[in-house]
Amino acid sequence: MNQTLVVIKPQAVARGLSGKIMARYEEKGLKLAAVKLMQAERDLLAQHYAEHAGKSFYDNLLETMGSGPVLAMVLEGTDAVTAVRMLNGATDPLKASPGTIRGDFGLEMAHNVVHASDSIQSSQREISLWFPELAVK
Ligand code: PPS
Repeated sequence: MNQTLVVIKPQAVARGLSGKIMARYEEKGLKLAAVKLMQAERDLLAQHYAEHAGKSFYDNLLETMGSGPVLAMVLEGTDAVTAVRMLNGATDPLKASPGTIRGDFGLEMAHNVVHASDSIQSSQREISLWFPELAVK
């Protein structure tokens, strides 16, 4: 049993896809442990994407992720990190298989519908960044 962070990106929220996307995770058997609609501040995004600082797409990525509300959630279940990444499909929506979230709902790399943690270690770091209120006091 582990937890993972998923962020539904601004364009997908604006397109009204949040309910459909959340249903995919729940239908798989993952449990929603926390969820919030929020505007991600630049400081949070800079920390979240720190490993990509300096890459060609970095500025565009931060601008896109800050362009409107996102839906951040913590999902839990057996091998949740792996299960969510399988449901999401390849990072580039054009390479993601039909039947995956990015394959069904995305077209461009800059709007690839969802972010999800890529390992248990990064899920712990990302959950504490996006949901500091869940930290044990
Ligand atoms: S890398 O360099 O291989 O680690 O990068 P990658 O894993 O492919 O992507 C890391 C995140 O950057 C996003 N990305 C982009 N956003 C906007 N525009 C462009 N051109 C672009 N290229 C990559 C990609 O969607 C990943 O974001 P997340 O939120 O983690 O899915």
